[in-house]
Amino acid sequence: MCGITGYIGEQNAADILVDGLKRLEYRGYDSCGIAVVDSKNALYLRRVSGRVAALETLVAKGPPKGGRTGVGHTRWATHGAPSEDNAHPHTDCSEQVVVVHNGIIENYLALKEKLLAQGHKFKSETDTEVIAHLIEEKLKHLHVQEKAVRSDMLEPVFFEAFRHAVGELKGSFALAVVWARCPGMIMAARMYSPLVIGLGKGEHFIASDVSAFLKHTKRVIFVNDGEMAAVRKDSMDFYTFQGKKTSHEPVTIQWDSTMAEKGGYRHFMLKEIHEQAEAVENTLRGRLLPLDGEVLGRELLMPVEFMRAVETVQFIACGTAYHAGMVGRGLFEHFGINAEADFASEFTDRAKLLDKNTLVVAISQSGETADTIFAVREARAGGAKVLAITNTVGSTLTREADYVLHTHCGPEIGVASTKAFLGQLAAIYLVAGHFAAAKGLLDKTDARAYAEELLRIPRHIEEILAREAEIEKIAAAFASSEHFLFISRRLNFPIALEGALKIKEISYVHAEGYAAGEMKHGPIAIIYKGMPLLAVAPSSSSLDLMAGNVEEAKARGADVVAIVDEDSKKTVKASRYIVLPRTGELFSPLLTVIPLQLFAYYVALAKKCDIDKPRNLAKSVTVR
Ligand code: AGP
Repeated sequence: MCGITGYIGEQNAADILVDGLKRLEYRGYDSCGIAVVDSKNALYLRRVSGRVAALETLVAKGPPKGGRTGVGHTRWATHGAPSEDNAHPHTDCSEQVVVVHNGIIENYLALKEKLLAQGHKFKSETDTEVIAHLIEEKLKHLHVQEKAVRSDMLEPVFFEAFRHAVGELKGSFALAVVWARCPGMIMAARMYSPLVIGLGKGEHFIASDVSAFLKHTKRVIFVNDGEMAAVRKDSMDFYTFQGKKTSHEPVTIQWDSTMAEKGGYRHFMLKEIHEQAEAVENTLRGRLLPLDGEVLGRELLMPVEFMRAVETVQFIACGTAYHAGMVGRGLFEHFGINAEADFASEFTDRAKLLDKNTLVVAISQSGETADTIFAVREARAGGAKVLAITNTVGSTLTREADYVLHTHCGPEIGVASTKAFLGQLAAIYLVAGHFAAAKGLLDKTDARAYAEELLRIPRHIEEILAREAEIEKIAAAFASSEHFLFISRRLNFPIALEGALKIKEISYVHAEGYAAGEMKHGPIAIIYKGMPLLAVAPSSSSLDLMAGNVEEAKARGADVVAIVDEDSKKTVKASRYIVLPRTGELFSPLLTVIPLQLFAYYVALAKKCDIDKPRNLAKSVTVR
């Protein structure tokens, strides 16, 4: 959950590395650093505790303008507190081997003990630093301590030292390593953490994610697990960790660099909230009609016979993506198909109960969430087929799954997920509709009506966004509240959870999502006079029950904001309303979440929180 960058070419490496880090800051932002080497083998290391902006200021003071090769890193602390000493890049004792790393070296303590016994001196508390010393040790074994190594032997020696060191690492890693004596080559390796190489003319880029270098090139190679790369400015070679050559065809990324910029919005989160109509459109485009299983089957290379044979659908995901999975469970159950939804991190014993008639649906914006990826492995080992729903082309999840459905939402930079959630929901509605039709649970007329209703959702989203100012006003009224409750029922219960998660993430205040019917079984005790309670109450078959639950909360002093449509507004009595366009009961989660996202955004704005980079979090959670 850190971001790494690397550059080798003819341009000023420091500027390119820092710019790339800015774009990767969503991956972690408690400390950062760069190291560049110039043609005379001089190494410049700059690190700060804090944000990339501080690093940029430091780098601007000079001097590494001559460096054409370098690596950079922005960190989300795992081993060792956020500090300058623990910031990457890390170096060996000789300060010649420079390492940036994303992931966790599980056997670092054993390696460190051995290296300490060999006389190495450590400067940080991180797991990463062992890699630099390990490579130094391997270089020693290859007898290159003396300056007398022939210059044409430097690359092969660096390659071998790196390969042997990587062979001893256990855990997850994306690595980029520079050896100051050999500035013509960067070594990189990947095991369970994302790593991508951008291909330029006479220059190459290394990063955790394409957004770091999209403004320079869209031609990329995704490095595989268990693979390493020797990257020079005009060539590159790939190998297994055993040293066997591998090959790659570059792919062209469709995203453009402006998609990863704020485009006039104050925060990425707000921009992404406003991109949701388009996100739904992009996810549905060309996949919805006719809703009979065939269109989707062709795209996924999933036989329609398999759709018919599926008896249980098991969703696994984390955080916001898990809430999408919960909506998925309700939707499949609505059609009469058995469904479950579990946190990927809690999906352990259930994996043993799966069989070939279970379809596991793993949902992940990043496609790199370690909990989800490990759960997918367990599920496949249990004999189930896995469908991945992800926004990230080339991500680890896409390689681990049997079938992949991309959501096509464009890059999501804000740590709080918004448009990716809408894309995930749209993908789930799409899959559920096709499965139901393939299984004969939706006849042609109902399938048509279902598809048409779904196609109307983007316009409804726009109508809600047009009422942003009203929602901002309501949020402002509660900006100083320290507790929030969100309640709803059935398909909108996950939306209540999502509303609470959004507030927690970006405002740091306590918020709880509850099934409205559960309130009276305990949680109602926490209600006090004036406590904000957001009731998600669109028209539905459980509206009367929901209205009753709202009354119960009001009787105990809750100050209720009701998310309703014109019809349900007549039934639910609240002090404030956010009125949404009317849609079918089944489709309301695609709309009810939008005001909750805006509400959370404006509460956080009023509290002056760092909305796109909330404390303690990272966008991509690649540790378990
Ligand atoms: C959402 O706002 C969160 N930042 C977080 O819960 C996120 O949804 C979760 O970590 C899963 O991420 P993924 O979709 O990339 O797998």
